[in-house]
Amino acid sequence: MAEKSLYILTDTHYVSKRIFSSDKALRGREKGDQIALVKSVEILRSFFKRILEDENSDAVLITGDLVNGGDRESHEDFISELKTLTAAGKRVFVTTATHDYCGMGDDENFFTATRYLDDGSEPAECVRKGELFDLYRAFGPDQSDSVDKESGSYSLKLYDGVRLIAINDNGNGRSHCGLFDEGFRWLEEEIDKANAAKEMVLLAVHHPVIPPWDVFSHVVDFEMFGGYKRLSEMMCEKGVRVIFTGHTHVQSIRRFEDAQGRYFFDVATTAAVSAAGCMRKVLLDTGNRTCDIKSVRIDSIDGVDMQGKSFFDYVYGLNFVGAVEKSLPLATSDYDAFLEGVSGVLPVDKLKAHPVIVKAALKKLGKLKLSTLAKFGKKYGGITKEEMAAIKGEKAMPVLFEITRHIYSGNAPFTPDTAEYKVLKGTVEKAQKLAKTFRVSALDKVVPPGQTLWDVAEPFVYNNRTGNDDEITINC
Ligand SMILES: [Fe+2]
Ligand SMILES: [Fe+2]
Repeated sequence: MAEKSLYILTDTHYVSKRIFSSDKALRGREKGDQIALVKSVEILRSFFKRILEDENSDAVLITGDLVNGGDRESHEDFISELKTLTAAGKRVFVTTATHDYCGMGDDENFFTATRYLDDGSEPAECVRKGELFDLYRAFGPDQSDSVDKESGSYSLKLYDGVRLIAINDNGNGRSHCGLFDEGFRWLEEEIDKANAAKEMVLLAVHHPVIPPWDVFSHVVDFEMFGGYKRLSEMMCEKGVRVIFTGHTHVQSIRRFEDAQGRYFFDVATTAAVSAAGCMRKVLLDTGNRTCDIKSVRIDSIDGVDMQGKSFFDYVYGLNFVGAVEKSLPLATSDYDAFLEGVSGVLPVDKLKAHPVIVKAALKKLGKLKLSTLAKFGKKYGGITKEEMAAIKGEKAMPVLFEITRHIYSGNAPFTPDTAEYKVLKGTVEKAQKLAKTFRVSALDKVVPPGQTLWDVAEPFVYNNRTGNDDEITINC
């Protein structure tokens, strides 16, 4: 092998073709989601094709939500896909997560295995949590020199001088997905051994250790890695500089620094089957102890007619935000087409019952100008006269949709020097001021203590994480 490297994918949400009777049968489920499901097989194969073409790289890691619904057929077929990589000489490692097994009433996981039929759905055969270790033991545990039996986590020598510790979420399938004391003790020991051997340490786990936005852990703390504060302290203390995560489906690279200036990065990769779906390619330089992370995307999906669209536009158009963006302008011209476009996404019965109000509201929203918002928040946004003139006539909705398009793909679009940034900052700050005046308490639920509403909103507008969610070089 010419190089020491590792491909990382996550949240492949694979749905076997054996589990849905036709594309149409699964389409409704897909439309209400933010990932591609009907073509998940083709998307996975297209990514694997890129890996197979790369003769310099021999290692692949997939960090959970391997399949979408914990059904046996999807697991069987997913394993067959993995074998196309191992047959070509690649080493493949996986961890599993909550979508990989069914809730059976014995924990908080509520996923059920479903077979999608043209005229409804029926239960499919479930895989239980306890089966996952043996099912996937060839992809990690069997190649490792240490396994934590309780969680199924494993530690292996990836290359001379590089250790991969893949943490398998343990817990109850919802409010605690992480490690318990015993798992933490095992992990600590493995890191100590690696440090004594002067190995670079790469950690990986499904759930986030640093949230993509602070508001995430403030509002849905249970979606974080169970024990993330303890793991953050451990990483700082032991000098582990990187952990690769998934779960949020958000492309994000964030740095955590403790009070003593010790730090690490959480490199979260977006779902392979999301619109911005990508793999990370990690180049490891053991001489300089650097970890060079890039993002690899695919332009097309093998075997799928993408009607001339890019990968992003094709997948974005399948899900609810894309459906809403495409359908909103139809509300005033063709209401039936609008209802059809948003069915399964918005409450169509309510929209049907109040067409006059909905049309009027959407018409107003569609006409809303950026300059109107700019005037509203002028005092707080710092927009100049020149910028005001430059955005004359520009509509607000495309700006809001542009922000929405970047929620999962990362690299939020408007830097602080743009008029859009200033307009939004002014609007949000004025809104907070009004909310305080009128004592709207709902904001307290969203805004973490010590922060403002703009602190919450800013990372959606501008990438204030590390500046680039797609690549970074980390001293390991
Ligand atoms: Fe996922
Ligand atoms: Fe997940």
